[in-house]
Amino acid sequence: AIEDLVNEIKSKEKNEFKNLLKGLVTKYQSNLNEHKKQIDEQKKQIDEQKKQIDDDVIFVKDIILMTINLLEMKDPYTIDHSKNVAGISLQIANKANLDIDIQILQFAALLHDIGKIGISDYVLNKPIKLSKSEYVMMQQHTILGFEAVKNLSIDKNIKDAILYHHESYDGTGYPYKLKGNDIPVVARLIKIADVYDALTTDRPYRQGFSKKEAFEIIQREKSKYDPELLKVFFKTIE
Ligand SMILES: [Fe+2]
Repeated sequence: AIEDLVNEIKSKEKNEFKNLLKGLVTKYQSNLNEHKKQIDEQKKQIDEQKKQIDDDVIFVKDIILMTINLLEMKDPYTIDHSKNVAGISLQIANKANLDIDIQILQFAALLHDIGKIGISDYVLNKPIKLSKSEYVMMQQHTILGFEAVKNLSIDKNIKDAILYHHESYDGTGYPYKLKGNDIPVVARLIKIADVYDALTTDRPYRQGFSKKEAFEIIQREKSKYDPELLKVFFKTIE
């Protein structure tokens, strides 16, 4: 009888232990399911945010393209030129290890001449050399472009490129005659790409120079350019 009692107690303990374990497992499983649900929910939210960001980027790109298209209506040489400048700038930037986001650099290069929208068609498309006063008007495209973007929340590199891409390393540029590294690096970079593409492109008043001739012209005026970036440029485009 004592043996029976001991067995009964043992089996009772066994059952209690079993139930306890069962309860624990069930609880653990429902916790796990709850956790999984939360993760799925977060995943969904992240996917939605990602889509929103993608949509925003597409929107910004479209607005930038529209702006360049508007400029193209005034100055038919702009789109090709802007795209070329973007391509050359990217090539130099990749080799020079610049601390500028590649996408921002592309936008900056595409938009650098946007202020030309504010320049009169007569001056913009004059097939012969500009008079001195017309040249002064033309130079205003840097400031006009900057006026158009200065209060926007776009990256500072884009604003710097628009305002300073005609400054020269030796202080002979415009609009402020800035010198050396006082000129933001994005503008020093775009200046080289800008001049090279302008030289090698046919314009109404002259044929485009060959690559070799353009290199020689730039080399002759090398004091105007950031020496480090110029070195990289010659190596990259060659
Ligand atoms: Fe320009």
